[in-house]
Amino acid sequence: MNLRMLRCTGMAALLLLTACSQKTTADSAVSMPAPKSIAVEKSPAPRFTPPAEADIPSGPLGEMIRHGRDIFTDTPAHAGEFVGNSLSCSNCHLDAGRQANSAPLWAAWGMYPQYRKKNGHVNSFGERLQGCFKYSMNGKAPPLDSDVLLALETYAKWMTTGAPTGAKLPGAGYPKEGFQPPQAPDYARGETVYSKNCALCHGSDGQGQRVADHTVFPPLWGPQSFNWGAGMHQLDNAAAFIKANMPFSRGDTLSDQDAWDVAIYMNSHERPQDPRFNGSVAGTRKKYHDSPLSLYGTEVHGHVLGSPASKH
Ligand code: HEC
Ligand code: HEC
Repeated sequence: MNLRMLRCTGMAALLLLTACSQKTTADSAVSMPAPKSIAVEKSPAPRFTPPAEADIPSGPLGEMIRHGRDIFTDTPAHAGEFVGNSLSCSNCHLDAGRQANSAPLWAAWGMYPQYRKKNGHVNSFGERLQGCFKYSMNGKAPPLDSDVLLALETYAKWMTTGAPTGAKLPGAGYPKEGFQPPQAPDYARGETVYSKNCALCHGSDGQGQRVADHTVFPPLWGPQSFNWGAGMHQLDNAAAFIKANMPFSRGDTLSDQDAWDVAIYMNSHERPQDPRFNGSVAGTRKKYHDSPLSLYGTEVHGHVLGSPASKH
């Protein structure tokens, strides 16, 4: 089955499930718009519009752009040796990296090289991509001179066609600046938000759903999800992503409190070890997770998150 057919299968499944969900969820005027039509900001700033897929040029440059797009939207199939879970880049960077407020590629490329606190030095764009492979994809970093990174870089650069470089564009990243929970986030409330708004697609066990060996609804925790080093394990990233983008096709419908509560619920579950694990969970927490935004190394229902002996 080719990629387009797989995506159609996914969409058909999505339509069915979304239709069913109308019975169980409140206030859902669910139709199924294409992801790019979602409005996710309260007072939308003028947005950069990236080129459409039909604008990909022909010739060798176009082939490389397409290769990058394929890696981005079906990472296990096109860069499998660097992937350790069942996610694809576009599961978190929606609409093939186009969607504002889901860390779109067109807003990222022009901002590198950039200093990152996470590793304490200036990162090239390629190194930033390597980070998402190591942590979000629970895999291995493709070498900086690899075809995989070249293709992704070419795709990202093409996305920025016509955009100013060096300026932070509206819609960049996940909208977490100043995004605070009204009350302290709460696991039990989050569990309720989850069963009402998320379980339908991601499963009550958080393991998502696969159709014909292809991830249709990605897992949110467990062995096939992002690991403890990934940006999404941080509560502010998760809450902002969820608020702007989830439930899928109905971004910006949860209250701020619900988004934070469900983020703490999601990130209170086990997931693959942080690849920077230094032999002890407490030591790894101290070195890399010393923040209230990380639950790694904290105890939830009698289990210390990140402890290697735990079952996933
Ligand atoms: C589990 C979710 C997830 C997956 C899967 C994922 N990413 Fe990310 N990505 C993130 C998060 C979280 C950030 C940080 C966003 C922020 O700081 O606002 C990020 C940031 C980025 C950035 C920098 C964005 C910016 O504005 O500076 C790029 C580029 C990127 N990812 C590319 C990729 C690529 C390529 C893949 C696939 C190999 C991938 N990501 C897979 C969650 C994910
Ligand atoms: C209608 C189905 C649907 C519902 C309901 C839904 N999601 Fe998703 N979710 C998706 C799909 C599909 C993707 C991947 C998007 C893509 O690839 O374009 C996704 C991606 C994600 C991701 C990033 C990828 C990953 O696996 O980490 C997170 C986190 C997430 N959803 C959390 C939630 C939360 C929390 C809720 C409830 C508030 C929710 N979703 C409700 C369909 C859904």
